Amino acid sequence: MWFSREIRWCRTSVKQCLCLKRFSLMKGLAFVISLSVLSSVFFAYHLMNFGIVKRHADPPKPLTMCRPDSTLPKNVPHVPKDHSSEASLRLGTRVLLMVETQYSKQGIIISRLLEGLRIEYKIEPTGKNLPTLTHADKGKFAVVIFENYEAYVNMDNWNRQLLDKYCRDYNVGMIGFFPSKDGTIIEEVMGFPLSVQNNLVLQDYKLNHYSDIWRITKPGDVFEGRLQTDYWTVFHTNHTTYEPLSFARVSSDNGEISRTAKSVVPVVYDAGFHDGIRRILYGYGLGFWLHHLMMIDSLSFISHGKLSVGLDRFIQIDIDDIFVGKEGIRMKVEDVVALAETQSRLAKEIDGFHFNLGFSGRYYMHGTAEEDLGDKKLIEYRDKFWWFGHMWRHEQAHKFDQEFLERSMLMNFQFAKENDIHVKFQYAVAPHHSGVYPVHDALYHAWHNVWDIKVTSTEEYPRLYPYWRRRGFIHKGIMVLPRQTCGLFTHTIFMSDYNGGKEELDKNIQGGELFQTFLYSPVSIFMTHLSNYGNDRLALYTFESVVRFIKCWTNLRLRSLPPLQLGLKYFEMFPEERDPIWQNPCDYKRHLLIWSANKTCSRMPKFLVIGPQKTGTTALYTFLGMHPSILSNYNSPETYEEIQFFNGNNYYKGIDWYMEFFPVPVNSTSMFMFEKSATYFDRDLVPMRAHALLPRAKIICILLSPSKRAYSWYQHMRAHEDPTALNYSFHEIITATEMAPRRVRELRSRCLNPGTYAQHLMRWLDYFSPRQATIIRSDSNATVSTENLFIIDGEQLRNDPIHVMHHIQRFLHIDTYFDYSQHLRYDPRKGFFCQVLSDEKNKCLGKGKGRNYPPMEDKSDRILKRYYRKHNIALSKLLHKLNMVVPDWLEEDLRYP
Ligand code: A3P
Repeated sequence: MWFSREIRWCRTSVKQCLCLKRFSLMKGLAFVISLSVLSSVFFAYHLMNFGIVKRHADPPKPLTMCRPDSTLPKNVPHVPKDHSSEASLRLGTRVLLMVETQYSKQGIIISRLLEGLRIEYKIEPTGKNLPTLTHADKGKFAVVIFENYEAYVNMDNWNRQLLDKYCRDYNVGMIGFFPSKDGTIIEEVMGFPLSVQNNLVLQDYKLNHYSDIWRITKPGDVFEGRLQTDYWTVFHTNHTTYEPLSFARVSSDNGEISRTAKSVVPVVYDAGFHDGIRRILYGYGLGFWLHHLMMIDSLSFISHGKLSVGLDRFIQIDIDDIFVGKEGIRMKVEDVVALAETQSRLAKEIDGFHFNLGFSGRYYMHGTAEEDLGDKKLIEYRDKFWWFGHMWRHEQAHKFDQEFLERSMLMNFQFAKENDIHVKFQYAVAPHHSGVYPVHDALYHAWHNVWDIKVTSTEEYPRLYPYWRRRGFIHKGIMVLPRQTCGLFTHTIFMSDYNGGKEELDKNIQGGELFQTFLYSPVSIFMTHLSNYGNDRLALYTFESVVRFIKCWTNLRLRSLPPLQLGLKYFEMFPEERDPIWQNPCDYKRHLLIWSANKTCSRMPKFLVIGPQKTGTTALYTFLGMHPSILSNYNSPETYEEIQFFNGNNYYKGIDWYMEFFPVPVNSTSMFMFEKSATYFDRDLVPMRAHALLPRAKIICILLSPSKRAYSWYQHMRAHEDPTALNYSFHEIITATEMAPRRVRELRSRCLNPGTYAQHLMRWLDYFSPRQATIIRSDSNATVSTENLFIIDGEQLRNDPIHVMHHIQRFLHIDTYFDYSQHLRYDPRKGFFCQVLSDEKNKCLGKGKGRNYPPMEDKSDRILKRYYRKHNIALSKLLHKLNMVVPDWLEEDLRYP
């Protein structure tokens, strides 16, 4: 047995106790809040006194913001550049992001941009040795970014030469940002025919129309006025390697805008004529909106098209819900007309555009007489719009069972029928995202049965924030797409109420968060509310304005598809997102609020026995089950004691399904629930999935000489009458070459692969660090380290299980000590330890465990020892690193020449 550390009993128990107390408190709170806060948000209209607020005479007109550069020839269309070239073939798809520290602001903003674009990156602090740059004759990184270019200029010789050589050999370029500094003197950049001037205030920013970098960015406009950012660095040079990418004017010191001010260059392209490396250098960071656009094009250009993102942007605007709103703030006839007219105008810019109207029939004709006419107008105009059905009363799904949800949906279905509303795109949205994620299976089933829903959207997956990490997944045949809000909320119905006023909303549109949503997300689904279409019609203003702004500054092709096609398109673009990753709803307050009060996280295991197969996992499972404070899962009809949730298709059944295998513990603090599935150990995705759902679970595995394990597995397959195992000897299987029949090769790999222990353990250690530090009290910095990973020597489990069980109890920090010496004893007939039933009687494992078969042939043993040698060496190194004892069998296997 390998223990490395002292185990601290009481501290962990205190921690668990606190956690669980906090958990039950949270559940209680969640229930109250879900009844009060969420419902009140939902009924925000009803709680607000809108009676005193009058509609403005004229809703605001959309912004017109194209200000073409008068120095350029008129009507020269800009063609987006395609940067792809053969040079990209030798490059990987990752970015190397060099930062001063992991926490520096600029580095965080750049990493956000990369995540938004779904570009993989490796973040490295400068000053450390460089990571490995190549792999199999390919450059691992397509672009190197320096958040502070001076760190590159001042890099030590060794690393600088290594990096420059890599960039030249693989034609890899750099992007660098200059930090702002005091003083406005012009300084040379060491080693380059380039100078920088700091600390300038700039105005009237425009792009170099003639550069080849522009792909998404459309040059030709001027962003007029003083740049609302701090001090800029600009570039001066006469060398032909440099091409300006943008120009701006220096503002006068008193901040006044002068049209005749001197023109300077804030961003420059180095074509590599000086030292063979291409670079784009920024005199200011991503705090200026246009630099986001420029940065996306810089990545595409510098990577020879390897990191290009497409020009298509798919847009869907949902109105949720078109009838839910308090009297006095609903839509009137003229609002409905404006909605239809704006739709026609938007459709000229967004190919195929329609507003997507959600409805809960119960609220139809619930306004003033004038507003009821508006409702009637909507029905009259029904064929102009797209429609999606809701629940009858806009109910939050997680609070109800399937029967109720179906009944409610059916009433709404009937309403659509009576009013001849065509709901044809198999799309639905859940009020407050309730039931979509965390998944409430009843909602998915009801959607399926009543509306035949195939696509929905939510902001909650994987979490609401950060918004650029929202992703999609598919569950029970329903595509869940990531959704964005547009910054307009239920209660914002007048421009003057907008948080920060019109200026703030316009900033959001002109390069701010809303504009960037279009920029970064190939598919944007916006959620709006009926009140945003009546009153000041803020949604119409916002969308028309942002679309105009996009048209001025970008070559993006705006398009709309009916929701079902949009869903298919999304997963065609991002097939890797199809599989969900289930997280623990109790780890995120927001998720807990929209999780059924009938569900509890205490129905999830506290530890996992992960295998691998044939190491004694059933014996361990049985012995654990004898402990009064340990509960195993219920048996599965298909896979018996194993649930096999994290590894196979069962994972797609979701966590409701998983939790059904566990009882609701009477005392969740002192009870330890666990699950054993022996195939978890060696399956690629399992550590990541297990960690997402059970981040604090403890992990137990058993290791045995890998050759012995392989032979036992082969005998197991024969006993289960696997035809290949019956027809081929063990020796034939393990020596099968590429020429052997496919089924033999497959059996060989299934037999040998779990025994490459180090490689599998490393994957687990990527997610479950061997020692976890947890802050135990919010008012103190005290941390407690607990062990997460326990490795059992399979030989010891077989020969001395009493000792093993003693240490497992310490590892788990179980309060009620169970003395296994009173409950286990060696059974000479079985040849193994068995459970004591009485003085004379033992209960042993069935005949499938501890089988009788001939010993392994020497020649097979020799081949396997050689085969596993390098893996065993890796294992011994890993165990040393983890400060764990190397077991006898490993020493013995390693002694083999
Ligand atoms: P063999 O049947 O090849 O001897 P698993 O439960 O993971 O499938 O592992 C089965 C192995 O557990 C058996 O392999 C056996 O050697 C081992 N084992 C360890 N302790 C045992 C016990 N008390 N009773 C039966 N088998 C045990």
